[in-house]
Amino acid sequence: MTQQPSMDVPDRYPGKLTLRVVFTCIMAASGGLIFGYDHGVSGGVTSMDSFLKLFFPSVYEKESHLTPSSNQYCKFNSQILTLFTSSLYLSALVAGFGASSISRMLGRRAVMLIGGICFVFGALLNGLAIAIWMLIVGRLLLGFGIGFANSSVPIYLSEMAPYKYRGGLNMCFQLSITIGIFSANLFNYFFAKILHGNGWRLSLGLGAVPAVIFVIGSLCLPDSPSSLVERGRHEECKKELVKIRGTTDIDAEFKDILVASEASHKVKHPWRTLLERKYRPQLVFAILIPFFQQFTGLNVITFYAPLLFRTIGFGSTASLMSAVIIGSFKPVSTLISILLVDKFGRRTLFIEGGIQMLISQIVMTIAIAIAFGTSGNPGKLPTWYAVVVVGVICVYVCGFAWSWGPLGWLVPSEIFPLEIRPAAQSVTVGVNMICTFIIAQSFTAMLCHMKFGLFIFFGCFVVIMTTFIYILLPETKGVPLEEMAIIWQRHPIWSKFVDEKTKASNGDSKC
Ligand code: BGC
Repeated sequence: MTQQPSMDVPDRYPGKLTLRVVFTCIMAASGGLIFGYDHGVSGGVTSMDSFLKLFFPSVYEKESHLTPSSNQYCKFNSQILTLFTSSLYLSALVAGFGASSISRMLGRRAVMLIGGICFVFGALLNGLAIAIWMLIVGRLLLGFGIGFANSSVPIYLSEMAPYKYRGGLNMCFQLSITIGIFSANLFNYFFAKILHGNGWRLSLGLGAVPAVIFVIGSLCLPDSPSSLVERGRHEECKKELVKIRGTTDIDAEFKDILVASEASHKVKHPWRTLLERKYRPQLVFAILIPFFQQFTGLNVITFYAPLLFRTIGFGSTASLMSAVIIGSFKPVSTLISILLVDKFGRRTLFIEGGIQMLISQIVMTIAIAIAFGTSGNPGKLPTWYAVVVVGVICVYVCGFAWSWGPLGWLVPSEIFPLEIRPAAQSVTVGVNMICTFIIAQSFTAMLCHMKFGLFIFFGCFVVIMTTFIYILLPETKGVPLEEMAIIWQRHPIWSKFVDEKTKASNGDSKC
């Protein structure tokens, strides 16, 4: 069951890793900053008293009247408060689906640009909010921005990158996400105490900065070769290929893109086509990879680390600081993954990350159970105990940040053939957003009801998803996008779904 088709794929595209491609990919990947910044900022802001007092006075009242002996598991259980965090993912979902047609007609770059602009306005509106409607409209705009960016950036990166470096370059998107989360955690920590308690305005408003970088980036970037060919701009595509591959020997790659684009033009209804039997493997991964990525439970930590730490007995500043410490582990781990993914492959990282997360989830459960039992009423926790809990959470976060985090965006973006690529990517973004919404919306209630069992709940999913990858995901490392059909044909289960005609034509032209 350990397929390694990459070994047998002949080196048909002689391009190198040029400065232009690296620069272009880094600029495009900055789209991850806005997604990450938003992920990281809401948890800290909703733990700031001045913010709660202004927009969620009932939550503030409840929280400030709790005594240390109250049930700590339930102290932040407010659906209105979680709606602030999670509403954005609903609009991201809608935008993700709209992005598919724009991406096909106008190219990936146009989608990125629209996303960046929505985000700039959303961040400004949130930073200046004086009424709850401003917060909500701002969140909706941020959601549109994220939906558009996440539907276009990962596929843009995979289309621009030379196939041998596709993994590492695509993962720059996740690196930006983690840098975005980390900056937001850091800003929350510093801003919590300034401007007479109004520092949250800076935390929310500063989201406009990465968005402006992304807008400028989208204006300067070239469109991807596949997207140019799809819109009939063949000569431009050839010129771009010469520049980004650093060689004039681009005929093989250009021809393969042309063949893919011809197939794509025959498809008039990408959504319906996606449901055809021969695309079953892609559809399964488009849905299950983002689903599993969210059900690792990682976002419980991302969104609510400060609340979680306050729940387990830390003070307000210590909670924000712990979120910063944890946030700093993510970019470092993703960087390690960038260096390893094109060497060791996707499967190895997925499986190692899964095992690491599972072990830490078990330890976290035991640690919280010992301290809180089921009453949620802790005695005085010694400092070493809190340090151990934060340490285990860091191990868990690293496991995610070098596996399911970056691979959750990389793998879908590389397995979809051109004719269904924008539609399938929208499904991936849509499922990611729905699941992010569910987790964000239900976390405080889950903690209140499941107590320390929460991490075991997510641990069960980690077992299922690791087994799923082991059995069903073929290795995609080193396989050019246009030759990806090979991986399904050689897989003992998926080969049954690839029809004979596809098998024969791919067999003739590619192998
Ligand atoms: C996920 C986010 C998550 C982030 C954390 C991303 O890949 O989609 O939901 O918060 O990684 O690093």
